[in-house]
Amino acid sequence: MKLLAPSILAADLSNLAQQIRLAEIGGADLIHCDIMDGHFVPNLTFGPIIVKAAKKVSQLPLDVHLMIERPYNYLKEYIEEGANFLTVHYEASTHLNRTINRIKELGAKAGVSINPATPVHILKDIAEYVDLVLIMSVNPGFGGQTFIPNSLRKIRDAVLLREELNANFLIEVDGGISKETVRNISNAGCDVFVAGSSIFHHDNISAAAAELKNMISSVEV
Ligand code: DX5
Ligand code: ZN
Repeated sequence: MKLLAPSILAADLSNLAQQIRLAEIGGADLIHCDIMDGHFVPNLTFGPIIVKAAKKVSQLPLDVHLMIERPYNYLKEYIEEGANFLTVHYEASTHLNRTINRIKELGAKAGVSINPATPVHILKDIAEYVDLVLIMSVNPGFGGQTFIPNSLRKIRDAVLLREELNANFLIEVDGGISKETVRNISNAGCDVFVAGSSIFHHDNISAAAAELKNMISSVEV
């Protein structure tokens, strides 16, 4: 399964409905919403209100990425506003098993994300309970950064972990995905591709999304 999840962090938010529509025309499968609190990451973006707005203008599943401290306290708000996938950071979750269970109790798919320096094997005892593992291929906080090359090894590690556990989580990669990097990322085993600037900073959003979607769909793993 190869899915494209454009990140609206890079979109023109004064035209959110039109930007999402253009990404949908290009073949987007999910809409990625980057929530940042200015504490877990140095940037401050938006809260549940962006999920509510995206839900109003798109039928696509909303892939909400919480880059916040104490995510457990906010799960209900994001899911009530329409998050279909809700991903928390391993590094921000003292009681990760409880958090993952709570996300599923509230009716969303549960994801866990790891920062570039956090090894995949740290997820060994939670991976069988999650629906998605998000591998950060840039340091979280900003779009437009350069893909960190050893992320390819981490993607392969996640594939091996999934096989070892006989689990069925999706592997999502987030940060620095473009025409130049997408083939290697797909061949390493990525299922869900998050792309922000390579789509929304392109002068033809639909064409940029379509080109990435074709590249991820055509690559043989
Ligand atoms: C970074 C975010 C990413 C980012 C991707 O903290 O989690 O989703 O928006 O943006 P690009 O594709 O421009 O690297
Ligand atoms: Zn993200």
